[in-house]
Amino acid sequence: MNRDPTSNANATTSVGISDNRTPQPFEHGQLNSARVYDYLLGGKDNREIDRDMGDELLSRAPEIKSLVWFARGFGLKAVEMAAGDGIRQFIDLGSGFPRSPNVHEVAQGIEPSARVVYVDYDPVVHTHCDALLAKRHGVTALLGDIRNPHDILDQLKNHALFDFSEPVAITLVGVLHYVMDTEDPAGIIAAFRDQMAPGSYLALTHGSLDSSPEILEVLTGTDGTSAQVTFRTAAQTEALMAGFELLEPGVVPVQELLRPDLPSTRMVMLGGIGRKGK
Ligand SMILES: C[S@@+](CC[C@H](N)C(=O)[O-])C[C@H]1O[C@@H](n2cnc3c(N)ncnc32)[C@H](O)[C@@H]1O
Repeated sequence: MNRDPTSNANATTSVGISDNRTPQPFEHGQLNSARVYDYLLGGKDNREIDRDMGDELLSRAPEIKSLVWFARGFGLKAVEMAAGDGIRQFIDLGSGFPRSPNVHEVAQGIEPSARVVYVDYDPVVHTHCDALLAKRHGVTALLGDIRNPHDILDQLKNHALFDFSEPVAITLVGVLHYVMDTEDPAGIIAAFRDQMAPGSYLALTHGSLDSSPEILEVLTGTDGTSAQVTFRTAAQTEALMAGFELLEPGVVPVQELLRPDLPSTRMVMLGGIGRKGK
C-alpha cells in the first residue's frame, strides 16, 4: 500500500491542535477517514490510498458495505426519535461528506423549522457540506475538531445561534473511535453534556473490540494518519455516555438497534442513545 504517514507530520488544525492525524486541505498520499468511509459507502470522493484500505477491509469482511449503511441508518433513526420527541436543534459531529438521506432531511421532514449544524474537522468535507447542504433554510456547516469541544460550542452559540437553554440532539456516528484515549473522549462528551438542556439526546456509534482479530489487524495500518482508530469495548463505550440515561437496549451492535433480523458482521459497530434527565 502506498502510504506515507510522515507527509502530514506536525500539521496544525484551524483550532490549534498540532498532530499528524488532522486532515489538511492539500495533503497528498495520506490516508483519510472521511474518504475511506466515502469509498465504503459507494461514493466518489476518495483516492487510491483510501480505496486500498477499503479493499483490505472488504477482502476480510465484504459485509462491511452493509455495516456502514446500518450505522448511518441507526444515526438517522436516533434523529427521527429526537425530532418526534420535540427536539428542534440538531448537531451532527463528524458529519462526513454529504450523503442523502442526511440529518436535515429527516429532522426537517418531521418539523420543517428544525435547525441542523454539520461539523467536521476535514476542510474538504467542510467545503462540500457548506456548498451542498448549508444553502438550505436552517442548515449550517462548521469547521471544527471535536477534540476542541469549547471551540465548537462557541461556534454553535455565536455563529449558528443555537440556544442551549432548549434541548438539542447530538449525533456522533463513526467519529469517537478516531479520538485516542490520550485525547480524553469522555471529557469531550462531558463538555457538550454540561451545556445540553434536560431532555437533550446523544446518539453515538463506536467501533468494537469484539470485531474479528483480522479486522483489528488491518486497522493497525491506519496508525499515524487521520484514519487511525482505537476501537473500544461496549463497557468503555457506555462509560463515554456517563451523565445520560441510556435508552434500552443500551450499547449494542447497531443492527440490534435497527431491526431484529439484520445479520451480524465481523466488524462490530456499537450504537447507543442517551437522554439527559430532566
Ligand atoms: C467514518 S466518517 C463518518 C461520517 C458520518 N458521520 C457518517 O456516518 O456517514 C468520520 C468523519 O468524522 C470526521 N472526524 C474524525 N475525527 C474528527 C474530529 N476530531 N473532529 C471532527 N470531525 C472528525 C472525519 O473527517 C469524517 O468525516
